[in-house]
Amino acid sequence: MNYTTSLTFIGAGNMSSSIIGGLIGEHYPPQAITACDPNLDALDRLSQTFAIQTTTDNTVACQQSDVIILAVKPQILKSVAEGLQTTLTNRANTSKESLPLIISIAAGITSQQIQNWLGQNVAIVRCMPNTPALVQQGACGLYATAQTSSEQKLIAEQLMQAIGDSVWLNDEALIDSVTAVSGSGPAYFFLLMEAMIDAGVKQGLNKDIATQLTLQTALGAATLAKSSDVSVGELRRRVTSPGGTTEQALNYFEHAGLRDTVTKAMQACADRSKTMAKELN
Ligand SMILES: NC(=O)c1ccc[n+]([C@@H]2O[C@H](COP(=O)([O-])OP(=O)(O)OC[C@H]3O[C@@H](n4cnc5c(N)ncnc54)[C@H](OP(=O)(O)O)[C@@H]3O)[C@@H](O)[C@H]2O)c1
Repeated sequence: MNYTTSLTFIGAGNMSSSIIGGLIGEHYPPQAITACDPNLDALDRLSQTFAIQTTTDNTVACQQSDVIILAVKPQILKSVAEGLQTTLTNRANTSKESLPLIISIAAGITSQQIQNWLGQNVAIVRCMPNTPALVQQGACGLYATAQTSSEQKLIAEQLMQAIGDSVWLNDEALIDSVTAVSGSGPAYFFLLMEAMIDAGVKQGLNKDIATQLTLQTALGAATLAKSSDVSVGELRRRVTSPGGTTEQALNYFEHAGLRDTVTKAMQACADRSKTMAKELN
Protein backbone atom coordinates (compact mmCIF):
# COMPACT_ATOMS: atom_id res chain seq x y z
CA MET A 1 0.00 0.00 0.00
CA ASN A 2 1.11 3.56 -0.68
CA TYR A 3 1.49 4.85 2.88
CA THR A 4 1.25 8.49 1.81
CA THR A 5 -2.43 8.16 0.77
CA SER A 6 -4.49 10.30 3.16
CA LEU A 7 -7.59 8.59 4.50
CA THR A 8 -10.67 10.20 6.07
CA PHE A 9 -13.21 8.05 7.90
CA ILE A 10 -16.67 9.60 8.23
CA GLY A 11 -18.12 7.87 11.30
CA ALA A 12 -15.83 6.67 14.07
CA GLY A 13 -17.81 3.58 15.10
CA ASN A 14 -17.14 -0.15 15.12
CA MET A 15 -16.20 -0.64 11.49
CA SER A 16 -13.93 2.41 11.28
CA SER A 17 -12.17 1.37 14.51
CA SER A 18 -11.58 -2.10 13.10
CA ILE A 19 -10.22 -0.89 9.76
CA ILE A 20 -8.03 1.75 11.43
CA GLY A 21 -6.79 -0.85 13.94
CA GLY A 22 -5.88 -3.18 11.07
CA LEU A 23 -4.08 -0.41 9.17
CA ILE A 24 -2.10 0.74 12.20
CA GLY A 25 -1.20 -2.91 12.84
CA GLU A 26 0.29 -2.89 9.33
CA HIS A 27 2.29 0.27 10.21
CA TYR A 28 0.10 2.71 8.27
CA PRO A 29 1.20 6.19 9.48
CA PRO A 30 -1.42 7.54 11.93
CA GLN A 31 -0.83 11.10 10.74
CA ALA A 32 -2.29 10.07 7.33
CA ILE A 33 -5.58 8.97 8.95
CA THR A 34 -8.42 11.26 10.08
CA ALA A 35 -11.69 10.19 11.70
CA CYS A 36 -14.78 12.44 11.81
CA ASP A 37 -17.72 11.95 14.13
CA PRO A 38 -20.03 14.24 16.13
CA ASN A 39 -19.41 11.90 19.08
CA LEU A 40 -16.35 13.22 20.98
CA ASP A 41 -16.05 10.05 23.09
CA ALA A 42 -15.71 7.94 19.93
CA LEU A 43 -13.07 10.33 18.58
CA ASP A 44 -11.13 10.37 21.88
CA ARG A 45 -11.04 6.57 21.94
CA LEU A 46 -9.56 6.45 18.44
CA SER A 47 -7.02 9.24 18.96
CA GLN A 48 -5.86 7.75 22.28
CA THR A 49 -5.61 4.20 20.93
CA PHE A 50 -4.14 4.90 17.51
CA ALA A 51 -2.80 8.52 17.66
CA ILE A 52 -4.75 9.42 14.49
CA GLN A 53 -6.18 12.87 13.67
CA THR A 54 -9.81 13.53 14.64
CA THR A 55 -12.42 16.21 13.99
CA THR A 56 -16.14 16.76 14.40
CA ASP A 57 -16.23 18.61 11.06
CA ASN A 58 -16.71 16.26 8.09
CA THR A 59 -16.20 18.99 5.49
CA VAL A 60 -12.86 20.22 6.86
CA ALA A 61 -11.48 16.67 6.89
CA CYS A 62 -12.61 16.07 3.29
CA GLN A 63 -10.98 19.17 1.78
CA GLN A 64 -7.67 17.43 1.02
CA SER A 65 -8.14 13.71 1.65
CA ASP A 66 -7.24 11.20 -1.13
CA VAL A 67 -9.79 8.67 0.12
CA ILE A 68 -13.06 9.23 2.00
CA ILE A 69 -14.53 6.19 3.74
CA LEU A 70 -18.26 6.51 4.41
CA ALA A 71 -18.77 4.45 7.58
CA VAL A 72 -21.99 5.81 9.05
CA LYS A 73 -25.30 3.97 9.42
CA PRO A 74 -27.18 3.66 6.09
CA GLN A 75 -30.09 5.74 7.46
CA ILE A 76 -27.94 8.87 7.76
CA LEU A 77 -25.72 8.38 4.70
CA LYS A 78 -27.90 10.63 2.51
CA SER A 79 -27.53 13.65 4.82
CA VAL A 80 -23.80 12.95 5.37
CA ALA A 81 -23.14 12.67 1.61
CA GLU A 82 -25.22 15.75 0.79
CA GLY A 83 -23.21 17.61 3.43
CA LEU A 84 -20.03 16.93 1.41
CA GLN A 85 -21.43 18.30 -1.88
CA THR A 86 -19.94 21.81 -1.61
CA THR A 87 -16.51 20.51 -0.56
CA LEU A 88 -16.40 18.11 -3.51
CA THR A 89 -17.67 20.75 -5.95
CA ASN A 90 -14.87 23.09 -4.81
CA ARG A 91 -12.34 20.29 -5.32
CA ALA A 92 -13.75 19.46 -8.77
CA ASN A 93 -13.55 23.15 -9.74
CA THR A 94 -9.84 23.12 -8.89
CA SER A 95 -9.26 20.01 -11.00
CA LYS A 96 -11.16 16.77 -11.66
CA GLU A 97 -8.02 14.84 -10.66
CA SER A 98 -8.23 16.27 -7.15
CA LEU A 99 -11.52 14.46 -6.46
CA PRO A 100 -11.11 11.74 -3.82
CA LEU A 101 -11.95 8.05 -4.04
CA ILE A 102 -15.17 7.38 -2.11
CA ILE A 103 -15.43 4.04 -0.31
CA SER A 104 -18.81 3.18 1.17
CA ILE A 105 -19.28 0.35 3.64
CA ALA A 106 -22.94 1.20 4.25
CA ALA A 107 -25.25 -1.76 3.70
CA GLY A 108 -27.90 -1.44 1.02
CA ILE A 109 -26.98 1.97 -0.47
CA THR A 110 -26.12 1.82 -4.18
CA SER A 111 -23.25 3.65 -5.86
CA GLN A 112 -25.79 5.60 -7.96
CA GLN A 113 -27.52 6.85 -4.80
CA ILE A 114 -24.17 7.93 -3.35
CA GLN A 115 -23.23 9.61 -6.64
CA ASN A 116 -26.53 11.54 -6.67
CA TRP A 117 -26.16 12.65 -3.05
CA LEU A 118 -22.53 13.74 -3.50
CA GLY A 119 -23.45 15.59 -6.70
CA GLN A 120 -20.13 14.76 -8.39
CA ASN A 121 -19.00 12.13 -10.86
CA VAL A 122 -16.56 10.56 -8.37
CA ALA A 123 -14.94 7.12 -8.23
CA ILE A 124 -16.90 4.96 -5.79
CA VAL A 125 -16.10 1.55 -4.31
CA ARG A 126 -18.88 -0.22 -2.41
CA CYS A 127 -17.85 -2.74 0.23
CA MET A 128 -19.93 -5.28 2.09
CA PRO A 129 -17.89 -6.40 5.12
CA ASN A 130 -19.18 -8.49 8.03
CA THR A 131 -18.89 -8.40 11.83
CA PRO A 132 -15.81 -10.67 12.16
CA ALA A 133 -14.03 -7.63 10.66
CA LEU A 134 -14.04 -6.44 14.29
CA VAL A 135 -11.42 -9.12 15.02
CA GLN A 136 -9.67 -8.76 11.63
CA GLN A 137 -11.37 -11.95 10.35
CA GLY A 138 -13.90 -10.34 8.04
CA ALA A 139 -15.08 -11.42 4.61
CA CYS A 140 -15.84 -8.58 2.23
CA GLY A 141 -17.26 -8.18 -1.28
CA LEU A 142 -16.11 -5.13 -3.26
CA TYR A 143 -17.59 -3.40 -6.30
CA ALA A 144 -15.98 -0.46 -8.12
CA THR A 145 -17.77 1.98 -10.45
CA ALA A 146 -16.37 2.56 -13.96
CA GLN A 147 -14.72 5.85 -12.86
CA THR A 148 -12.47 3.98 -10.40
CA SER A 149 -8.85 3.63 -11.52
CA SER A 150 -6.87 0.44 -10.98
CA GLU A 151 -4.72 2.31 -8.44
CA GLN A 152 -7.86 3.34 -6.51
CA LYS A 153 -9.16 -0.25 -6.64
CA LEU A 154 -5.91 -1.40 -5.12
CA ILE A 155 -6.26 1.11 -2.28
CA ALA A 156 -9.81 -0.11 -1.52
CA GLU A 157 -8.68 -3.73 -1.61
CA GLN A 158 -5.78 -3.07 0.74
CA LEU A 159 -8.04 -1.23 3.20
CA MET A 160 -10.43 -4.18 3.34
CA GLN A 161 -7.54 -6.64 3.66
CA ALA A 162 -6.71 -4.85 6.92
CA ILE A 163 -9.89 -6.48 8.31
CA GLY A 164 -9.84 -9.88 6.59
CA ASP A 165 -10.39 -11.41 3.15
CA SER A 166 -11.94 -9.57 0.22
CA VAL A 167 -13.22 -10.44 -3.27
CA TRP A 168 -14.06 -8.24 -6.27
CA LEU A 169 -17.50 -8.36 -7.92
CA ASN A 170 -18.07 -7.30 -11.51
CA ASP A 171 -21.77 -6.57 -11.00
CA GLU A 172 -23.08 -4.31 -8.21
CA ALA A 173 -26.26 -6.41 -7.92
CA LEU A 174 -24.08 -9.22 -6.56
CA ILE A 175 -23.56 -7.15 -3.39
CA ASP A 176 -27.02 -8.48 -2.38
CA SER A 177 -25.73 -12.04 -2.80
CA VAL A 178 -22.61 -11.20 -0.76
CA THR A 179 -24.95 -9.85 1.92
CA ALA A 180 -26.78 -13.20 1.88
CA VAL A 181 -23.56 -15.26 2.06
CA SER A 182 -21.05 -13.39 4.23
CA GLY A 183 -22.70 -10.12 5.31
CA SER A 184 -25.43 -11.90 7.26
CA GLY A 185 -23.57 -15.23 7.33
CA PRO A 186 -22.05 -14.87 10.82
CA ALA A 187 -25.58 -14.85 12.28
CA TYR A 188 -26.41 -18.18 10.57
CA PHE A 189 -23.39 -19.77 12.20
CA PHE A 190 -24.29 -18.16 15.55
CA LEU A 191 -27.77 -19.72 15.24
CA LEU A 192 -26.31 -23.14 14.49
CA MET A 193 -23.89 -22.77 17.41
CA GLU A 194 -26.75 -21.76 19.73
CA ALA A 195 -28.72 -24.83 18.64
CA MET A 196 -25.70 -27.13 19.13
CA ILE A 197 -25.00 -25.70 22.60
CA ASP A 198 -28.67 -26.20 23.61
CA ALA A 199 -28.65 -29.76 22.23
CA GLY A 200 -25.40 -30.53 24.11
CA VAL A 201 -26.99 -29.24 27.34
CA LYS A 202 -30.09 -31.41 26.71
CA GLN A 203 -27.75 -34.42 26.46
CA GLY A 204 -26.23 -33.64 29.88
CA LEU A 205 -23.21 -31.35 29.26
CA ASN A 206 -23.04 -28.20 31.34
CA LYS A 207 -23.50 -24.99 29.35
CA ASP A 208 -19.86 -23.81 29.64
CA ILE A 209 -18.51 -27.10 28.37
CA ALA A 210 -21.07 -27.31 25.55
CA THR A 211 -20.17 -23.73 24.55
CA GLN A 212 -16.41 -24.32 24.65
CA LEU A 213 -16.69 -27.49 22.54
CA THR A 214 -19.07 -25.89 20.04
CA LEU A 215 -17.01 -22.72 19.49
CA GLN A 216 -13.72 -24.61 19.16
CA THR A 217 -15.39 -27.02 16.73
CA ALA A 218 -16.66 -24.13 14.57
CA LEU A 219 -13.21 -22.50 14.59
CA GLY A 220 -11.48 -25.81 13.90
CA ALA A 221 -13.83 -26.73 11.04
CA ALA A 222 -13.36 -23.32 9.36
CA THR A 223 -9.57 -23.42 9.85
CA LEU A 224 -9.37 -26.96 8.47
CA ALA A 225 -11.57 -26.07 5.48
CA LYS A 226 -9.48 -22.95 4.69
CA SER A 227 -6.17 -24.78 4.90
CA SER A 228 -7.36 -27.85 2.97
CA ASP A 229 -6.96 -28.34 -0.77
CA VAL A 230 -10.23 -30.30 -1.07
CA SER A 231 -13.83 -29.00 -1.08
CA VAL A 232 -15.95 -28.72 2.06
CA GLY A 233 -18.17 -31.45 0.57
CA GLU A 234 -15.17 -33.78 0.42
CA LEU A 235 -14.16 -32.89 3.98
CA ARG A 236 -17.70 -33.76 5.09
CA ARG A 237 -17.60 -37.10 3.25
CA ARG A 238 -14.23 -37.93 4.85
CA VAL A 239 -15.64 -37.60 8.38
CA THR A 240 -18.82 -39.55 7.54
CA SER A 241 -18.10 -43.27 7.89
CA PRO A 242 -20.87 -45.54 6.59
CA GLY A 243 -22.97 -46.72 9.53
CA GLY A 244 -21.14 -44.33 11.88
CA THR A 245 -22.32 -41.65 14.29
CA THR A 246 -21.81 -38.57 12.05
CA GLU A 247 -23.83 -40.22 9.27
CA GLN A 248 -26.80 -40.51 11.60
CA ALA A 249 -26.82 -36.76 12.28
CA LEU A 250 -26.20 -35.78 8.65
CA ASN A 251 -28.98 -38.07 7.38
CA TYR A 252 -31.31 -36.31 9.78
CA PHE A 253 -30.26 -32.85 8.50
CA GLU A 254 -30.70 -33.94 4.86
CA HIS A 255 -34.14 -35.52 5.42
CA ALA A 256 -35.26 -32.44 7.34
CA GLY A 257 -34.50 -30.36 4.23
CA LEU A 258 -31.54 -28.35 5.60
CA ARG A 259 -30.17 -27.46 2.14
CA ASP A 260 -33.53 -26.20 0.91
CA THR A 261 -34.03 -24.21 4.12
CA VAL A 262 -30.61 -22.54 3.71
CA THR A 263 -31.33 -21.71 0.05
CA LYS A 264 -34.69 -20.10 0.90
CA ALA A 265 -33.33 -18.25 3.94
CA MET A 266 -30.49 -16.74 1.90
CA GLN A 267 -32.88 -15.74 -0.89
CA ALA A 268 -35.04 -13.94 1.70
CA CYS A 269 -31.91 -12.13 2.91
CA ALA A 270 -30.89 -11.01 -0.60
CA ASP A 271 -34.47 -9.87 -1.36
CA ARG A 272 -34.51 -7.77 1.82
CA SER A 273 -31.18 -6.21 0.85
CA LYS A 274 -32.74 -5.08 -2.46
CA THR A 275 -35.85 -3.58 -0.87
CA MET A 276 -33.81 -1.78 1.81
CA ALA A 277 -31.97 0.19 -0.89
CA LYS A 278 -35.34 1.43 -2.20
CA GLU A 279 -36.60 2.34 1.28
CA LEU A 280 -33.47 4.39 2.06
CA ASN A 281 -33.52 6.34 -1.23
N1 LIG B 1 -20.74 -3.62 11.95
C1 LIG B 1 -20.65 -4.46 10.92
O1 LIG B 1 -20.25 -5.61 11.04
C2 LIG B 1 -21.00 -4.04 9.53
C3 LIG B 1 -21.02 -4.99 8.51
C4 LIG B 1 -21.29 -4.57 7.22
C5 LIG B 1 -21.54 -3.24 6.96
N2 LIG B 1 -21.54 -2.34 7.99
C6 LIG B 1 -21.83 -0.94 7.69
O2 LIG B 1 -20.83 -0.13 8.24
C7 LIG B 1 -21.39 1.13 8.57
C8 LIG B 1 -20.92 1.52 9.95
O3 LIG B 1 -21.34 0.52 10.87
P1 LIG B 1 -20.80 0.53 12.36
O4 LIG B 1 -21.19 -0.78 12.93
O5 LIG B 1 -19.39 0.97 12.40
O6 LIG B 1 -21.74 1.68 12.97
P2 LIG B 1 -21.52 2.54 14.30
O7 LIG B 1 -20.65 1.80 15.26
O8 LIG B 1 -22.85 3.01 14.74
O9 LIG B 1 -20.64 3.79 13.77
C9 LIG B 1 -21.21 4.87 13.06
C10 LIG B 1 -20.64 6.15 13.67
O10 LIG B 1 -21.08 7.24 12.87
C11 LIG B 1 -21.33 8.32 13.74
N3 LIG B 1 -22.10 9.37 13.12
C12 LIG B 1 -23.43 9.67 13.25
N4 LIG B 1 -23.74 10.75 12.51
C13 LIG B 1 -22.58 11.16 11.91
C14 LIG B 1 -22.26 12.22 11.03
N5 LIG B 1 -23.20 13.10 10.60
N6 LIG B 1 -20.99 12.36 10.62
C15 LIG B 1 -20.03 11.50 11.02
N7 LIG B 1 -20.29 10.46 11.85
C16 LIG B 1 -21.55 10.29 12.29
C17 LIG B 1 -22.04 7.64 14.88
O11 LIG B 1 -22.09 8.48 16.00
P3 LIG B 1 -23.32 8.25 17.07
O12 LIG B 1 -23.08 6.92 17.67
O13 LIG B 1 -23.18 9.38 18.00
O14 LIG B 1 -24.57 8.29 16.24
C18 LIG B 1 -21.14 6.42 15.08
O15 LIG B 1 -20.04 6.73 15.93
C19 LIG B 1 -22.91 0.99 8.46
O16 LIG B 1 -23.36 1.65 7.30
C20 LIG B 1 -23.13 -0.49 8.32
O17 LIG B 1 -24.20 -0.77 7.43
C21 LIG B 1 -21.27 -2.71 9.26
